[in-house]
Amino acid sequence: MRAGRPSSVRAVDAAALRLQFPVLARVAYLNAGTCGPLPRASLEAARDVWELAESQGRGAAYFERLGAMRERLRAAYASVLGADPLDVALTTSTSEGVVRVLAGLELGPGDEVLTAPDEHAGLLGPLRALRERRSVAVRTAPLAELPDAVGPRTALVACSHVSWTTGALAPEALAGLDVPLLLDGAQSTGAVPIDLSALGCSFYAGSGQKWLCGPMGSGMLWVSPAWRERLEPTGLTYVNLSDPAAGLAARPLPGAARHDAPALALETVAPALAAYETLASAGLSAVQRRATGLAARLAELLAGSGRLIAPRGRSTLVSWHSRDPVLERDRLAAAGVVVRDLPGTPLLRASTGAWNDESDLERLLAAL
Ligand SMILES: Cc1ncc(COP(=O)(O)O)c(C=O)c1O
Repeated sequence: MRAGRPSSVRAVDAAALRLQFPVLARVAYLNAGTCGPLPRASLEAARDVWELAESQGRGAAYFERLGAMRERLRAAYASVLGADPLDVALTTSTSEGVVRVLAGLELGPGDEVLTAPDEHAGLLGPLRALRERRSVAVRTAPLAELPDAVGPRTALVACSHVSWTTGALAPEALAGLDVPLLLDGAQSTGAVPIDLSALGCSFYAGSGQKWLCGPMGSGMLWVSPAWRERLEPTGLTYVNLSDPAAGLAARPLPGAARHDAPALALETVAPALAAYETLASAGLSAVQRRATGLAARLAELLAGSGRLIAPRGRSTLVSWHSRDPVLERDRLAAAGVVVRDLPGTPLLRASTGAWNDESDLERLLAAL
């Protein structure tokens, strides 16, 4: 699945972007698939919030700033997804978005969810719970084969847009299915172009702390307009109500804000927005193009040095086979190179962002 990319995308000023991320002065940080590097602007935004709370307390000024910034963050995440902000909920993680969809669809006995066997536990965990507690059938097929595996009882297909283990992309044929599609966008949101209508999905859950370089506790869920009134909001609290003062008569907010996480702190929202703005000012399309280009280059270098690369797509992840992934990860960390192992697999994984450069890739190769 690949969105079209305008040919006139300007190039990233890589040296200037790199300077925005303090951690890069010390280590070859190749781990945005876990958490992106935090930009200086996020650190400053977080400090401002704590200083406001320290000097003025958390009264009207704090909550007014939170309300305004929350809507700016919603608009920012909507622009990453190419969506209407009305259809974007602010969550704390990809996993939270996934759980809200799986619970809100109110599936039960007779329904089946089709997924891939090597999805992240953020998806497989709640699916296991659905099977055990709601008697929903869960069936698996390899990511590339999901479109052909849909059966008469399939009520939902749930899988990654970009696989967290290999960096492979979900098959384009998923777009033509007749059943709702939930895409786990943890490894794609901010990393690769997203065209929701070409993807043909009903729900798209993403993380703010990975490729958008925000703090932990930031994320989003897109709910397609067709599902706006049909996805049951789970755990409605006062932030999800249009008229909280109406007591028991209060109604859910229109649009996806009814699925917002209950306690979105200014301490999270402000640095998340600052991180988005750092990337947006470099040009999001250019950021993605540079990041996927660096990943392709890294895959080439690793293959050239005799490493076996897991089959991947045009993404920002590169995984390769290692005899002892944990040992090798720790040895690389000692040499100032941050990558991760993938428990349960023989793989090590590097994540490349536009903030990386050839020197990071060379440092990895030299340390292997
Ligand atoms: C494919 C995939 N899904 C879900 C998650 C969980 O993301 P979050 O921590 O934002 O819930 C991850 C995290 O690595 C992931 O790679």
